[in-house]
Amino acid sequence: MTFAIQRLAPEDYDEAYALWERTPGMHLHSLNNTYGGISSIIENNPFTCFKAIDEGGHLIATALGATDGRKGYLYHVAVDESHRGQGIGSALIKRVLDTLKARGITTIGLFVAKNYPPAKEFWLKQHFKERHDVEYLDIDL
Ligand SMILES: CC(C)(COP(=O)(O)OP(=O)(O)OC[C@H]1O[C@@H](n2cnc3c(N)ncnc32)[C@H](O)[C@@H]1OP(=O)(O)O)[C@@H](O)C(=O)NCCC(=O)NCCS
Repeated sequence: MTFAIQRLAPEDYDEAYALWERTPGMHLHSLNNTYGGISSIIENNPFTCFKAIDEGGHLIATALGATDGRKGYLYHVAVDESHRGQGIGSALIKRVLDTLKARGITTIGLFVAKNYPPAKEFWLKQHFKERHDVEYLDIDL
C-alpha cells in the first residue's frame, strides 16, 4: 500500500474527525475538537500538522504537531484501523518531530488517555519517557 504525507488543512476536518471518532483513545470530548478548535491549531501551526492519504486521496491518518515557541506537542495521532502496521504512524510522527526540530523545538510532549493503555505502550516504544515529576491540571474559563 502506498501512502503520501501532506499538510493537514482545515478543509480536512470532516474526514479527520470521522477518523478520530472511530479510533479508541482519542479523548475527543475533553477539549475543543470542533472545527474552530482544530482549525485554530492548524492555523497556528501550519507547518507541523500532517495527514496521510491513500492512492485515492482519502485521509487515512493524522498527526498534529504544535508549539508554543519553546516546547512542542503531539496531538491526535491516529491511523485508520485498516491501514495500521504498515509504518504510516511512525512515518507521520517522524515528519512532525523532524519539522519541529528543524524549527528549533527539541522537547516534544503529549497526553495519553489513562483509560486506554495501548496508547502509552505505543509511545514508550516510540522512545517517549514517562514523567513522574509533574501532574497535569487545567481550568475551564
Ligand atoms: C498507535 C497507531 C497510531 C500506530 O500506527 P501504525 O501505523 O499502525 O504504526 P506503525 O505501523 O508505524 O508501527 C510503529 C511501531 O509501533 C508498534 N505499535 C503499534 N501499536 C502499538 C501499541 N499499541 N503498543 C505498542 N507498540 C505498538 C508497531 O508494532 C511498530 O513496531 P515496529 O517498528 O517494531 O514494527 C495506531 O495503531 C492507532 O491509530 N491506534 C489507535 C490510536 C492510538 O493509540 N494513538 C496513539 C496514542 S494517542
